[in-house]
Amino acid sequence: MLTYRLGKTGPDVSAIGLGCMGMYGPSDRGESIATIHAALDAGINLLDTGDFYGMGHNEMLIGEALKGRRREDAVISVKFGALRDPAGGWNGVDARPVAVKNFLAYTLQRLGVGYIDIFRPARLDPNVPIEDTVGAIADMVKAGYVRHIGLSEVGADTIRRAAAVAPIVDLQIEYSLISRGIEENILPTTRELGISITAYGVLSRGLISGHWQKGQAATAGDFRAHSPRFQEGNIEQNLALVEKLREIAEVKSVSVAQIAIAWVAAKGKDIVPIIGARRRDRLTEALGSRAVDLSAEDFAAIERAVPKDAAAGGRYPEHMLQHMDSER
Ligand SMILES: NC(=O)c1ccc[n+]([C@@H]2O[C@H](COP(=O)([O-])OP(=O)(O)OC[C@H]3O[C@@H](n4cnc5c(N)ncnc54)[C@H](OP(=O)(O)O)[C@@H]3O)[C@@H](O)[C@H]2O)c1
Repeated sequence: MLTYRLGKTGPDVSAIGLGCMGMYGPSDRGESIATIHAALDAGINLLDTGDFYGMGHNEMLIGEALKGRRREDAVISVKFGALRDPAGGWNGVDARPVAVKNFLAYTLQRLGVGYIDIFRPARLDPNVPIEDTVGAIADMVKAGYVRHIGLSEVGADTIRRAAAVAPIVDLQIEYSLISRGIEENILPTTRELGISITAYGVLSRGLISGHWQKGQAATAGDFRAHSPRFQEGNIEQNLALVEKLREIAEVKSVSVAQIAIAWVAAKGKDIVPIIGARRRDRLTEALGSRAVDLSAEDFAAIERAVPKDAAAGGRYPEHMLQHMDSER
């Protein structure tokens, strides 16, 4: 698979990454591990996780999947900082330097590896200057426990401040046909500074995959149960957009998900989609997007089908958006 260098200093990652977030809870463990193996075998090296996904479970799953594989065959991206409680609740973030080192120590154990390729705070800690958080990760780079520093869901000012402390290789942030907020300020800033985007939510959590149907129940704990775009009153308008995309996909003999992924991938070599496949059939479909060529006419047709800001409902519930630095 084609690889791209993230940022100015690497690592080199596959043109598509695998997001492992959904591989816990109702996901089948065996199928999750088989999906990670299939991704590695297909040339995907970028695996994304967070220590709070399943409260350590997701890291342990990846650790198990990587047993018997060469460490250098995977580029492991880990988000840290989210505080949980035993009932699964969320209690804000902690990105103090002392917390950075603590999170990292546990992450290394759970993954069973000696270093993390890209370590990033999941959200900006409003009580801690980003310089302090990035400085602490840079200390861990010097000590050999981390290879590269990334960011997640932060805005242009924070990106600049972080990049002034140490090289930042990528910003992980939502970007899709129906979430184009980064195009205004954030993307110009990352491009100016030579920082890549690892884009998540490319399928808008499955909403624009072509597989989601109105009335389909989101399982307990599933983000989609609370996502405004999946709620009655919004879902109808959003699925109507998907049907327009389907017409374009059918003419090209590809799937809706493949159009949605190819659209993000075509936006630049500095943008790497991380796709949240948790089954091998979904992974195969996502990989098929690599063969989709979008012409200028295709782009125009897609734009007519799904104009910017066409989606009904925010990309997160309002109370969550209020805490996101990228939304300021
Ligand atoms: N930095 C951050 O703040 C942040 C936030 C969220 C996620 N992430 C990362 O980004 C990754 C991807 O995000 P995401 O899972 O929310 O978004 P996504 O890739 O937009 O959506 C993935 C979901 O779409 C459905 N789907 C339908 N067809 C698919 C196909 N062909 N391939 C893959 N999925 C298909 C799957 O649901 P079914 O399995 O139910 O069909 C899957 O759970 C996550 O795994 C995580 O690593 C980062």
